[in-house]
Amino acid sequence: MSTEDRRKALASLGVELPPQSFGSLPQNVAERMVENVITIMELPFGIATNFRVNGTDRLVPMAIEETSVVAAASHAAKLTREGFLGAGMKAKSDEPLMIGQIQIVGVKNFNDAEKRINQHKKELIELANSKDPKLASLGGGAKDIEIREVSGIRGRMLVVHVIVNVLDAMGANAVNSMAEHISGKLEDLSGGKARLKIITNLADRRVVRAEMEVSADELAKDTGLDSKEVIEGLLDAYAFAEADPYRATTHNKGIMNGIDAVVIATGNDFRAVEAGAHSYAARSGKYKPLTHYEATSKGIKGTIELPLAVGSIGGITAVHPKAKFSLKLMGVKSAKELAETIACVGLAQNFAAMLALSTEGIQRGHMSLHARNIAMQSGAPDALVEKIAKKMVEERNINQKRAEELIKELS
Ligand code: MEV
Repeated sequence: MSTEDRRKALASLGVELPPQSFGSLPQNVAERMVENVITIMELPFGIATNFRVNGTDRLVPMAIEETSVVAAASHAAKLTREGFLGAGMKAKSDEPLMIGQIQIVGVKNFNDAEKRINQHKKELIELANSKDPKLASLGGGAKDIEIREVSGIRGRMLVVHVIVNVLDAMGANAVNSMAEHISGKLEDLSGGKARLKIITNLADRRVVRAEMEVSADELAKDTGLDSKEVIEGLLDAYAFAEADPYRATTHNKGIMNGIDAVVIATGNDFRAVEAGAHSYAARSGKYKPLTHYEATSKGIKGTIELPLAVGSIGGITAVHPKAKFSLKLMGVKSAKELAETIACVGLAQNFAAMLALSTEGIQRGHMSLHARNIAMQSGAPDALVEKIAKKMVEERNINQKRAEELIKELS
């Protein structure tokens, strides 16, 4: 069906249709991205400020529906600006190596199979690269083949990893094509049957690390509290996440608030990043926080470490007008710079949440935007939204009934 026909079909079922506007995403582009399109889903797109990453100032696009995330990231970024002799936050990333997995079942002799695959490694790498000669010619492409034995509920299997440098792409297309392309040869070499051929989102060869430091003076100025006590509170908050998976999950959720928002704004695959992040958080066998904190002679230092499979080319980064805008706005020239900035956003987001939670609590910061939402939902005219929200916050009485009363009073 065409989009028009789909909409007509839904209408004939009595469905009240959402607006057909495609905003700045051309309808034909949306129709090529996914199936059965009838409209688009909008998210607020905000810009986080104050980020200085490896000495470079960057404006950070964030697409997210949740109140306070953009403000919190900007707030924490401000506290880190003067860190590391004015360089702001520091970040470093691994080479963009992704892993394609080929599952081989029914292998009779594992030793022989592994030996033969190892003997033909060079040939397998060349075969993989023949699938994407452009990537290889630019210095990327398949670099290595690794073999693992995995025991499962249906017995042992051979799992072959093809390690691919995907340069500035997220890499799923290149890796999946290569994995499929070499699977026949792997069957010949192993005597088994190749089943799944697919990228792993546990991109643990493509890890990004970022760090920040906030001075005790800065913390005292920001909170109006004794900096020693603030740091103690932050360290207790971190200790809680470190010890308890229930808390670590929420701690990491806050990190992903920032990370996903940038991943979405830049047209990248947030499910891939999410899956990789949580799997990495559990790599020791226990689910852990993705950030770490320690007291320093100056104040407090935070670090983050997680895999980030994001591309600055490929996917929809080149076709979605707002993804293109986001990359330009950030001024990132490579997937590496993009990933490093995103890691800094995750760290800043986490620091902001921990600071709020360990001092005034999270609700106060949320309240003014929440109050604005309630005012709007209650039908306040634009000119009164701000006034009504402010009054409800002052009264600590934020609900629809009060908003409606205030609309009457003030109109
Ligand atoms: C809410 O979206 C995120 C937080 O719950 C994160 C955290 O608890 O660290 C505030």
